[in-house]
Amino acid sequence: MIDSKGSIVILTGAGISRESGLETFRDKDGIWSRVSVDEVATPEAFERDPEKVHGFYNARRRGLLDPAVQPNPAHLALAELERRWPGEFLLVTQNIDDLHERAGSEKLIHMHGELLKARCLSCGEVSAWREDMGLESRCPACGETACLRVEVVWFGEMPFEMEAIYDALEACDLFLSIGTSGNVYPAAGFVQAAGAAGAWTVELNLEPSAGHSLFDEARYGPASEVAPAFVKGLLDAI
Ligand code: APR
Repeated sequence: MIDSKGSIVILTGAGISRESGLETFRDKDGIWSRVSVDEVATPEAFERDPEKVHGFYNARRRGLLDPAVQPNPAHLALAELERRWPGEFLLVTQNIDDLHERAGSEKLIHMHGELLKARCLSCGEVSAWREDMGLESRCPACGETACLRVEVVWFGEMPFEMEAIYDALEACDLFLSIGTSGNVYPAAGFVQAAGAAGAWTVELNLEPSAGHSLFDEARYGPASEVAPAFVKGLLDAI
């Protein structure tokens, strides 16, 4: 499958955080079953009704900061793999929660941004942000108000660090996708980029994703079980 000098790229989605108590998007009780993307997750929505968009992310930020929400064994397994893997390693997450960081992951790209950060539309500064955000919120850098947005990539916007991600995919020997439905591009196309570059591609998910047939191998079950088991197999073989 991969020798210990090989390079690993991992993509995670909302499913890896489900057992930590955070909702997914497209499961039957998921976020998009209650709220419309067009009302809260596009630049047009923010232009039309900023307080509604702030309200949506304020509720999710408060949920993430609930002390009951902690990294689960899947997050911890990926952090251990990063620490112990001798070859190149990159974790790309679509998630905007900070559970990978809190589990100890460092070689990490948040391609869809981060819920606990704010970007100022006046001065461009990105700041840590852990409280509710609204039109009255003041930019910590320039002091302006009515100028902050959550540092999250909305539909129609370009995800972050795509060049670095494709560079890693084109050089990887193992691509592992965990807890994503494979519905949203460009992330849903990463398996093809990695496979075209000769990587062995593996899907770990609760159930087959939209792109399941594109993977060389798949294991299904809760991330907190299948991810630690897969990581153990890699580390035992070093
Ligand atoms: N363990 C593993 N997988 C799980 C678990 C679990 N406990 N629970 C759910 N899943 C799987 C679901 O079967 C589904 O395939 O996680 C996947 C979650 O899919 P989505 O809800 O579509 O989330 P995601 O793929 O991360 O969405 C991608 O869409 O809305 C945008 O920007 C948002 O980053 C998000 C992107």
